Amino acid sequence: MVVSIMRSYGVLMNPFDKYETQNIALKGDLSILSVIHQPEEFPHREPQINTMVASLSGLIRGFSANNLLIYGKTGTGKTSVTKYVTGMLEEKVGDKVITCYVNCQTYDSPYSILVNLSKCIPGDSNIPPSGWTLDRIYDELVIKIKGSGKILILILDEIDKLVEKNGGDSLYVILKLMGEDTGAGGTIIGITNDSSFYERLDPRVKSRMSRESVMFSPYNAEELKDILYPRVTKVLNPESYDEAAISLCAAIGAREHGDARKAIDLMRISIEMAIRESSDKVSVSHVYKARDTLEIDVIRETVKTQPTHSKIVLLSVILSGERHPNSATTGEVSSLYADLCRDIGIQPLTSRRVSDYISELEDFGMINTTVKSLGRYGRTRYIKITGRENDIKRFILEDTELEPLKDIKGTRQFRLDENI
Ligand SMILES: Nc1ncnc2c1ncn2[C@@H]1O[C@H](COP(=O)(O)OP(=O)(O)O)[C@@H](O)[C@H]1O
Ligand SMILES: [Mg+2]
Repeated sequence: MVVSIMRSYGVLMNPFDKYETQNIALKGDLSILSVIHQPEEFPHREPQINTMVASLSGLIRGFSANNLLIYGKTGTGKTSVTKYVTGMLEEKVGDKVITCYVNCQTYDSPYSILVNLSKCIPGDSNIPPSGWTLDRIYDELVIKIKGSGKILILILDEIDKLVEKNGGDSLYVILKLMGEDTGAGGTIIGITNDSSFYERLDPRVKSRMSRESVMFSPYNAEELKDILYPRVTKVLNPESYDEAAISLCAAIGAREHGDARKAIDLMRISIEMAIRESSDKVSVSHVYKARDTLEIDVIRETVKTQPTHSKIVLLSVILSGERHPNSATTGEVSSLYADLCRDIGIQPLTSRRVSDYISELEDFGMINTTVKSLGRYGRTRYIKITGRENDIKRFILEDTELEPLKDIKGTRQFRLDENI
């Protein structure tokens, strides 16, 4: 009663009220700017599409097709273009073709890939999720594929992960199954962002894998604009965005190895920001904020997935930097690291291992190191965090094992002072 009177006098508002009237009217679903959206057109990918279609074209006349290898950096359209091309092939030949898509990051053993393949082919699959020998699965699949009378296309996305984890033999088993010698047959489309993948395969696997490859080059800013526009105009009216916002998303995506995913994600988050702020239009300021949000997500993920010792090394770099801005040495970081390990009751690693972690953290872009010569006193490595130390510290301390280090700053300062 009291609450409703207060509401009617405008004293108490429902916190959702401000989102009820949106300044930016969305004319389409925002998911058009998400990874789940499969576009109907792929600007700047005509050459790749043409090569893939030509390579698979024998299948529509009942011939076999060579295996294909697709290369390119993240976000250059490899997965979505491959799905588009195989989708078009299915549309052309109907259910004569079966496409089976497997991501080898998720299914990273030959066993799980073959189980997936079996599930794609119509008819009962007797293969249990584990327990059979590969030979037994192999025989079962040959019978199943032959019996189905279908043309099979197996897409192995992130194919490098399969070989990295299980060695070249794992790929060989699958290649043999899909090769013509078993009478089963089919085509494999391997996708990878590792440009040296093929070179590192052993000759036996190499000769079966690929006679054809397709390169997906990074997009430049202009190309990314052409990719963004059709999506943005499906979601927003022209008065709801600044052209400069699209250009900025494209420019940032281009700088990140020509990554369309990054540009699209940025645009979506910018629109969400603008809506949340009840702005009239999406502007470059929203894009800058969106970039910050994305960056922070990447940092959190990177910190979270570090092993405990690496997190302690990183924390030591931050705390040493607070005490010695611009000039924390490897020695200071290592001794602080050892102290922190003892504080939480774990055995510190050797300085060699700590040094490895420091190099790894540098590879991740979390820290910078510079080596300075001290003349006849040798050389010293100085370590500095690249930025966002407060956020990184917060993410490190989200690890429950490191919780006792939460208030470490004061005591550590004291201990370091003592050492001087
Ligand atoms: N030429 C293009 N036209 C339209 N959208 C594209 C194009 N290239 C990439 N995309 C989009 O960018 C995102 C990332 O593409 P994806 O195929 O997942 O890249 P990759 O597999 O190379 O990492 C997807 O949402 C995809 O639809
Ligand atoms: Mg992909």
